[in-house]
Amino acid sequence: MKTLQIKATTHEYEVVLGEGIRHRIPEMLEKDYQSILIITDDQVSDYYLEDVRQSFTGGQHVHTAVVPSGEASKSMECYEQLLDACTTHQLDRRSLIIALGGGMIGDLAGFTASTYLRGIDYIQVPTTILAHDSSVGGKVAINHPRGKNLIGSFFNPQKVVYDLETIATLSRKEIRSGYGEVIKHAFLSDVNWLESLLDVSLDTLTSRQLEEDLYRGIQVKASIVEKDEKEADIRQYLNLGHTLAHAIESELGYGRVTHGEAVALGLLYALKLSSRKSDKDLRVNDYVNWLRKNEYPLDLLRGLDAEKLVDRMKWDKKTIGRQINFVLLDGVGHPYVQAMDDSLLLNELKCVIEEVGNG
Ligand SMILES: NC(=O)c1ccc[n+]([C@@H]2O[C@H](COP(=O)([O-])OP(=O)(O)OC[C@H]3O[C@@H](n4cnc5c(N)ncnc54)[C@H](O)[C@@H]3O)[C@@H](O)[C@H]2O)c1
Ligand SMILES: [Zn+2]
Repeated sequence: MKTLQIKATTHEYEVVLGEGIRHRIPEMLEKDYQSILIITDDQVSDYYLEDVRQSFTGGQHVHTAVVPSGEASKSMECYEQLLDACTTHQLDRRSLIIALGGGMIGDLAGFTASTYLRGIDYIQVPTTILAHDSSVGGKVAINHPRGKNLIGSFFNPQKVVYDLETIATLSRKEIRSGYGEVIKHAFLSDVNWLESLLDVSLDTLTSRQLEEDLYRGIQVKASIVEKDEKEADIRQYLNLGHTLAHAIESELGYGRVTHGEAVALGLLYALKLSSRKSDKDLRVNDYVNWLRKNEYPLDLLRGLDAEKLVDRMKWDKKTIGRQINFVLLDGVGHPYVQAMDDSLLLNELKCVIEEVGNG
């Protein structure tokens, strides 16, 4: 078992990583909660809901709410249903919400916890690799029909209980998706870690490697959000690869590409742009080989229109005054933010689509 302490502005909380710890949640809680609502999706519930529910043996009232799996549940309808569940089960300020699932559930249940009674305690019990990213840092949100994560808040959990055993039931696509964010954290932080990751084939991932990668990824995220919780400054670095990723996700429609796969493609573009401005070795060729070896959907690029994507990037909610601010690297571990010219963005994107999409 490994632990990490995260300092948020409201309180400190612990991230615990270990095997089988979903069975031991009550002993990890610092308070005695009498009413608990476990929120999960209908895929995760088949595997892990009973384990978590049955871990509470102290006579607590344990309720459950299950939403359909998939991004579509991060909606105002599901949010409303969850608020109904909170009132039906008479949760009060001393109750606890448990977010059991991937980033979708973490965001939806966390947002519910952040607004019900102006905020009640919640814990994150992440079950995807991607959720090493989403369960830490306190951003919670639901989607609006006009865009992703448009309705949200900053609200930190009381604890993150990361049971690595749950990763065993993830599909290859979801493993790939999660590693898109893991490798982003490596590019942001440490060339040695990056090099060891570039040697990894996701098909033969060991649990030891997984634990190490998740731990390091959380460390990188935590060290950045601790310095800038509300994204005034360096938290933007975490958006490395995301400007294009968001544009690809909305262009293709959510569902055809996972978030982490889109990030992996966006990362390649960010590396190419970075190489135009810096002569440091960003391991671009090794990264392309890694993407191919692990079957990231590079061919999706082929069908995309560079002009439309640049247009979408201009409407990203992180874009200020319609100038596209990009996170670039001046070497592995050295991110910076730069406003970019549309024409440079367009030309480089055309090159990437041409080179990689058709390669
Ligand atoms: N708040 C943040 O800081 C932050 C950061 C990154 C991403 N996100 C959000 O996270 C979401 C994506 O998260 P995700 O990739 O984890 O998606 P997800 O939660 O939708 O999970 C992906 C799929 O895997 C299934 N699943 C989850 N755990 C499983 C398990 N252990 N075994 C088998 N199947 C399992 C789910 O049912 C779902 O079908 C997006 O909504 C994104 O906006 C938030
Ligand atoms: Zn992301």
